[in-house]
Amino acid sequence: MKDVVKIFDTTLRDGEQSPGASMNTEEKIQIAKQLEKLGVDIIEAGFAAASPGDFEAIRKISEVVSKSTVCSLARALEKDIKAAGEAIAPAAKKRIHTFIATSPIHMKYKLRMEPEEVIKKAVAAVEYAKTFVDDVEFSCEDAGRSEMSFLKEIIDAVIAAGAKTINIPDTVGYRFPHEMGEMIKELKEFIGERAIISVHCHNDLGLAVANSLYSVLNGARQVECTINGLGERAGNAALEEIVMAIKTRKDIFGKIDTNINTKEIYPTSRLVAAITGIEPQPNKAIVGKNAFAHESGIHQDGVLKHQETYEIMRAEDIGLDRNAIVLGKHSGRHAFKNKAEELGFNLSDEELNKAFERFKILADKKKEITDDDIRVLITNELSSAPEVYKLKKLQINDCSEGVPSAAVTIEFEGKEITDAGIGDGTIDAIFKTIDRISGYKGTLNDYQVTAVSKGKDALAKVVVKVVFDENKPAVIGHGLSIDTMIASAKAYVSALNSYISMKDMLRTKKGSGEDI
Ligand code: KIV
Ligand code: ZN
Repeated sequence: MKDVVKIFDTTLRDGEQSPGASMNTEEKIQIAKQLEKLGVDIIEAGFAAASPGDFEAIRKISEVVSKSTVCSLARALEKDIKAAGEAIAPAAKKRIHTFIATSPIHMKYKLRMEPEEVIKKAVAAVEYAKTFVDDVEFSCEDAGRSEMSFLKEIIDAVIAAGAKTINIPDTVGYRFPHEMGEMIKELKEFIGERAIISVHCHNDLGLAVANSLYSVLNGARQVECTINGLGERAGNAALEEIVMAIKTRKDIFGKIDTNINTKEIYPTSRLVAAITGIEPQPNKAIVGKNAFAHESGIHQDGVLKHQETYEIMRAEDIGLDRNAIVLGKHSGRHAFKNKAEELGFNLSDEELNKAFERFKILADKKKEITDDDIRVLITNELSSAPEVYKLKKLQINDCSEGVPSAAVTIEFEGKEITDAGIGDGTIDAIFKTIDRISGYKGTLNDYQVTAVSKGKDALAKVVVKVVFDENKPAVIGHGLSIDTMIASAKAYVSALNSYISMKDMLRTKKGSGEDI
């Protein structure tokens, strides 16, 4: 019998708080489905009260996920808990995760509350959350800098109110592994079997995974983590590192295990990188591009003679296929469909046709189409908002001398509109011209370009974050092309389409949106 540590994934909530990592609803749904396939026990799908967009995404995820528990975060406030309860209502298994700060510094300066008042709020929050769901988690925010006596007092009170999981976050990533271990040990002795102890460690000192693992060794049976370690500031504990450490060091963890299907780790990591545009650093443990690459001749020779000379894990165990078949110009629809299925995409006929069309255009320009190219191509197709505006042509003028300029043709309501403009640089000229054609005026908040695969003919992926209206959230746009300028123009047009679809959604949801 294994002793299970529950994996609580917060990529869609804390992970989304990474600078530049916002995702639209379609993208969140894709990630949630993949997290379910990965076998995570709980998916924190968002913070329902944060915005109508968050609410909508959690609700849709609750409709499509059935094996994993779907959870929404909520401050210890009635309006937050109500939004959380309503957003997760359709889920087969659901949880509300409510929190309040418990450290002296947070209570005094942020909450401006006396400790007794904080306990009252926490108890009221748990009791109210129980009117929506049975499964309530309570977090003592900044537990890493809280006093043990106060933690025990508030934990006692919220367990009596019905909390089933008590989360101990090291919110600012301050603790050292031995300190975290000692804290969890003392809390485990105090709580016993009354509730499950969870930990949520941030990575400010690079210790999030070590702190999580020490907590598990001392009695925590839920770990909150994210794919690729995404998250606020330096991020959260990386799911893949925690899971593989537990699997690889059975000598230390004994019967302790997770429900994760480790073969889905690499596909999940690639999907999250493709959607957020945030690549794990090349030397990142488990999922970095170099994690299983051996550069030195001595190492290569050793691995060829006996894999375990230099490898403590097998690439196959995380679902990394080093001999993956690459597709090319001559690959047909059938081969493309097989590849898409192998990469975990279940496409409808229409989605398959559209993605195949894009694949053919790419294969004409690029010799070898890798798994990463296909992942990015399909996710781009699936997550795009309806194409109200469509980029048809782009012509740019060299910016090395003279004034950078761009001529752009856009299709709108069946008609092609062409205009030209100048800018401070080529990208600026392209974006300003698109603004002139569409009549919208965007402010660029973030611009990222990555090469999807290797080689001079690598596919460029551009992610932009644009604000079209100061009173509305920024929108994300993605563009793919062999040519970086075309990818940039496509990304900007895709952000514009996302903005239009967000505006439509806000209009139809106006009533509930204002409530939240
Ligand atoms: O870091 C933190 O304390 C959090 C809580 C809301 C769990 O993210
Ligand atoms: Zn956090």
